Amino acid sequence: MSKKDLEKLMQNIVSLSKRRGFIFPSSEIYGGFAAVYDYGSYGVELANNIKAAWWKAMVQKNDNIVGLDSSIFMHPKVWEASGHVGGFSDPLAECKECHFRARVDHILEEAGVFADEKMSEAEINKLLVDNKEKVKCPKCSKSNFSEVKNFNLLVQSNLGNFTGDWDKKPTYLRGETCQGIYVNFKNVLDSTRVKVPFGIAQIGKAFRNEITARQFIFRKREFEQMEMQMFVHPNKSMEVYEDWRAKRFQYYIDLGLKKENLKWHEHENLIFYAKAAWDIEYKFPFGFKELEGVHARGDYDLTQHSKFSGKDLSYLDPKTNEKYIPHIIETSVGVDRTFLAVLTEAYTEEKLEDGSERVVLKFPKKLAPVKVAVFPLLKNKPELVEKARGIYNNLSDNFMCEFDDNGNIGKRYRRQDEIGTPYCLTVDFDSLEDESVTVRDRDTMKQTRISIKNLEEFLKENF
Ligand code: GAP
Repeated sequence: MSKKDLEKLMQNIVSLSKRRGFIFPSSEIYGGFAAVYDYGSYGVELANNIKAAWWKAMVQKNDNIVGLDSSIFMHPKVWEASGHVGGFSDPLAECKECHFRARVDHILEEAGVFADEKMSEAEINKLLVDNKEKVKCPKCSKSNFSEVKNFNLLVQSNLGNFTGDWDKKPTYLRGETCQGIYVNFKNVLDSTRVKVPFGIAQIGKAFRNEITARQFIFRKREFEQMEMQMFVHPNKSMEVYEDWRAKRFQYYIDLGLKKENLKWHEHENLIFYAKAAWDIEYKFPFGFKELEGVHARGDYDLTQHSKFSGKDLSYLDPKTNEKYIPHIIETSVGVDRTFLAVLTEAYTEEKLEDGSERVVLKFPKKLAPVKVAVFPLLKNKPELVEKARGIYNNLSDNFMCEFDDNGNIGKRYRRQDEIGTPYCLTVDFDSLEDESVTVRDRDTMKQTRISIKNLEEFLKENF
């Protein structure tokens, strides 16, 4: 696809998301709020299905992984121990010509120079100076930037602070969910049957003062993460790491993303404590970008929290009596990025035989926000409406259903195609005689007659 076509594709996805109730800009009636979005009625269903799929793959299907739901607020020292207060920042420079404020790691990357947001101000400044001619302002295309300054990404709050001075004793909205996992390592160990190697999984909100708010829900200021931290013996860490790398890549294929739209990216500049860091990238309409990080974090996190809290976070192996600080293998992905990947993969514009066009979201069935739509052929025929309502009431015990009696059947099919509903059932006059309905398949558009008493079984087989 050409660059223009890809931009158009992105615009179409954004506009469908709003028009069909997947994603709304936050506080839109007040002009919106940069990099914050709300999920509408179909969006929240899709997001819930994404979270359920992740939870199943991580917690339900692994008997050595347990769940957790830690708070958004934590003791401020957590963020000192983790290194976020001192070093969780984005490098920014201002274009001296048009005053556009650019993320320097991003503009360097666009010029083919690898930079990492974790580099120091001096390191990244040097890269910018050394590559002065190559690096262009995304707005005016000139190459005349100010010095790089790092801006901290942590979002502050005044929770529990009654001094009126925010800087005195700041508390933070969590910048990543995994810190809640590290600080509960001992609690989980003492309260469950787990033994090293074991994992703790969590889904929850995270907040970052992202400077460049671009690319729709790809980079939000309030977002949701699905993180799993595996605690392992130091000697086993790379073996477990490779195992999880393979599992996480396969997970996305099983989720319905095409293999050719996924690839690995190795971090070129490893942060000092990391043993290995690879990202799974997805081919979004704006290019291959990070979807998930799979990182071997060494013993850094538990060591830091031990130091700052004064609590011993080592593990005593009950069999060998060996005492050690476990190493951590992390898998970390955003709900929102998975949402955008799934939406991109599903978005299809089709030309039909009769010359008309349809937009259809070909979601994998398990992720579809609505599984079944039930239509009475005519809304002014009470006997049809009553029969359709009865079917809707029965099926909605087990499936997310939608009842629609508005407009002609063709229009109703198009509406369901646009939200990715796998099956539409129509109750017509024959249904009153033969106790069957017409079932229309979203992808093939084929219609078959199925007896009402077999509907439940048919749907169970197909989901
Ligand atoms: N605990 C490690 C960690 O937080 P990260 O690479 O900063 O690492 C992990 O974030 C994942 O969280 C990313 O791969 C991405 O899927 C998601 N993510 C990070 N920042 C995000 C943002 N501003 N908006 C949406 N998703 C984000």
